[in-house]
Amino acid sequence: MNEMADSNEVIDIKDMLAKFTTDVIGSCAFGIECNSFETADSDFRKYGKSVFEENAFKALKMMLAFNYENLAKKLRITILDKDVENFFVKISTETYNYRVRNNIKRVWIFVAGFDTSAATLTFCLLELACNYDIQDKLREEIFDVLYEYNGEITYEALHEMKYMDQVINETLRKYPVVSMILRKCTQDYQVPFSNSVIEKGTFTIISAMGLHRDPEYFPNPEKFYPDRFSDANLSKIRAGSYLPFGDGPRICIGMRFGMMQVKICLITLLKNFEFSLNSQTKMPPELDFGFITTAKGGVWLNCQKLNKDLLQ
Ligand code: HEM
Repeated sequence: MNEMADSNEVIDIKDMLAKFTTDVIGSCAFGIECNSFETADSDFRKYGKSVFEENAFKALKMMLAFNYENLAKKLRITILDKDVENFFVKISTETYNYRVRNNIKRVWIFVAGFDTSAATLTFCLLELACNYDIQDKLREEIFDVLYEYNGEITYEALHEMKYMDQVINETLRKYPVVSMILRKCTQDYQVPFSNSVIEKGTFTIISAMGLHRDPEYFPNPEKFYPDRFSDANLSKIRAGSYLPFGDGPRICIGMRFGMMQVKICLITLLKNFEFSLNSQTKMPPELDFGFITTAKGGVWLNCQKLNKDLLQ
């Protein structure tokens, strides 16, 4: 990744970060070296990408599967294309069998993990490229903490980076990469202070994006302002108004892992490079709300190598 960033060219940042997260999840979840940076389109990247690709037929299948579950089952409708499903079933079965044979008790999940983290990183770098003061402040924290740890990115070092947490939290506030939380109502629900009842069986969509950009909960919502998440301000955030990882029993199981890979990637990049906006990218970006929120046209950033030694 460092080599790609150091190429002195304008970078399609989403592509670079998706390669990074594909390699991380492939390795941690399946013990497989995906080599996404060396291979033009590794199988993991190819099939992983197509899970989130959208088209009208896929949208129709999803609509049927969510709203007419029994009919969809009878018609044997699957949301994933057969070749994509076959690839992940094969790889999961092989991994599972290997782990049973070798008594390894970890089962991870690939697809939910790489695009979400890559999209979070993309929007984070985009905002940092537009807000030099925040980028500098974060880099300073990275240098200060890593200095204490002799340049090593340890678990403890990550925990000391409080401003880093604020920056990532604010990124996921402004750009919740999973913009909609899906639920099926399991019992009739009287919506408080209204005459509306959500009937049992209703498929519901909770808009994280709507909540996160509502000025009632987050004043001046278009402003990228990590201090919303400072210790002093945290108590002002209303319960249930901030849902980047969902909530309740089905909250994202990869939340900690996702946060960790985002942090490691940001440290690796920011300690070596400075990012600025390239004219190919519009700010504010036009958002595309698919399975994962993305910026239409991609995010292109200039990347300048820093001449600062971490341990000086
Ligand atoms: C910054 C990165 C990530 C974000 C923003 C994110 C966000 C989310 C959200 C919003 C949900 C839906 C939760 C709900 O319905 O209440 C979810 C579910 C899920 N996520 Fe993540 N996720 C991230 C990283 C990961 C990673 C790294 C993994 C695995 C390695 C993962 C695995 C899952 C799984 C398996 C579910 C389904 C949980 C269930 O239905 O019980 N996620 N994620």
